Amino acid sequence: MSRDGFGSKIGIIAAAAGSAVGLGNIYRFPCELGNNGGGAFLLVYLLIVLCLGVPVMLSEFVIGRKTQKNPIGAFKMLRPKSAWPLVGYMGVVCALVIMAFYSTVAGWTLEYVVKAVGNQFQGKELSVIEQEFADFHNLGWKNVLWQVVFIFMTGFVVFKGVANGIEKYSKILMPLLVLILIVLAIRSVTLPGAGEGLAFLFKPDFTKITGSVLISALGQAFFSLSMGMGVLITYGSYIKKTDNMTTTALSVTMSDTLVAVLAGIVIFPAAFSFGVRPEAGMGLVFSTIPMIFNQMAGGYFFCIIFFVLLAVAALTSTISLLEVIVAYLVEEVHVTRRWATVIASVACILVGVFASLSLKDTSVLRVGGKSFFDFLDFLSANIFLPVGALLIVIFVGWVMGKSKFFDEITNEGQLKLSIKTLIFFIIKFVAPIAIAVIFITGLI
Ligand code: PFF
Repeated sequence: MSRDGFGSKIGIIAAAAGSAVGLGNIYRFPCELGNNGGGAFLLVYLLIVLCLGVPVMLSEFVIGRKTQKNPIGAFKMLRPKSAWPLVGYMGVVCALVIMAFYSTVAGWTLEYVVKAVGNQFQGKELSVIEQEFADFHNLGWKNVLWQVVFIFMTGFVVFKGVANGIEKYSKILMPLLVLILIVLAIRSVTLPGAGEGLAFLFKPDFTKITGSVLISALGQAFFSLSMGMGVLITYGSYIKKTDNMTTTALSVTMSDTLVAVLAGIVIFPAAFSFGVRPEAGMGLVFSTIPMIFNQMAGGYFFCIIFFVLLAVAALTSTISLLEVIVAYLVEEVHVTRRWATVIASVACILVGVFASLSLKDTSVLRVGGKSFFDFLDFLSANIFLPVGALLIVIFVGWVMGKSKFFDEITNEGQLKLSIKTLIFFIIKFVAPIAIAVIFITGLI
């Protein structure tokens, strides 16, 4: 079967970075950081990204490009008649789980675009903006409506195919998002009382590092880099045989981390300045950011542009999630791309509706003391992704082996790569041990 490929090298970097950069950086990262001790979390997070980011990402790229297949097909091809394809199936399930709650938040970005256009934040006190955000959750149907719209938008782009769909959208808009974050960061750090927020972010209190902080940082790192569930295997399958995957992995990891840290610099100084608690969770972003725009010249326009770009960043991530399910249905179940997109979108909506509705104050949709939304978030980031990433590095390090790995990352010996031995050492020994230890400590 002929498969779409990415038109250019920048295409695959843009698409993988598009998958990585999203609500995970701007919404989830500040929430996790705020709930897990601030600077200590940032430090652990950066260490994990630095040590594991590129090696784990490369492991996925290698599996994808070598086989030119979706995650399930890839494992079936490399180890037929074994249990390894289960890792691929787990990835497809995980994509559905993430889509279900991620599309809820993605839907909010659309609501906020509309609010921004209607100038509905102007001159309002923080408490009013916070109350309106809470009221919006309690109007369950409106969340669901935006969520469905968002999933339709995702399905539309995915249906149009990989090369001309994803690539076109990612290339121009992501740098624009970085630019607006920089503008916001400058405004945020110059607000009165911003220093306290910067200290919260950058001054680690080592006594705060616990098992749960470690697993949250690990989960957040994998979530943010879209690792551990096959998105990058799928995207790897579209990388050309002549591309340098190591520099691709490095660029994606660096851009993603830059955006996350930038989001932290935007949110915390402003949150401390306005009196939003760092543990405020969702409100941290959806209340603090409109407040910053309220304090800025041209805030009305910047606010619209920001929420539009945030929606686009979310879209390039949901596209990658849906693509995992669609590629599986097309290549393994042999349905047409059109039907695969319809089936995958409907499945995401069916589970997603419960995630959205579970956020109402009166909702009974709870699992183990958490709302269904939080449960799906926890399940994916703290269980599925670490386990998935662990199995992927074990596969590359111990099953596939060094020579096949080297052949693939050096393009059959064409590229000179002095750090290849170090990368393989991390994949074979450091990553499995680190992930397993953090995962077990976190569970205990
Ligand atoms: N990395 C995306 C973000 O940070 O918003 C979310 C995500 C996309 C997670 C794709 C996992 C994934 F496979």
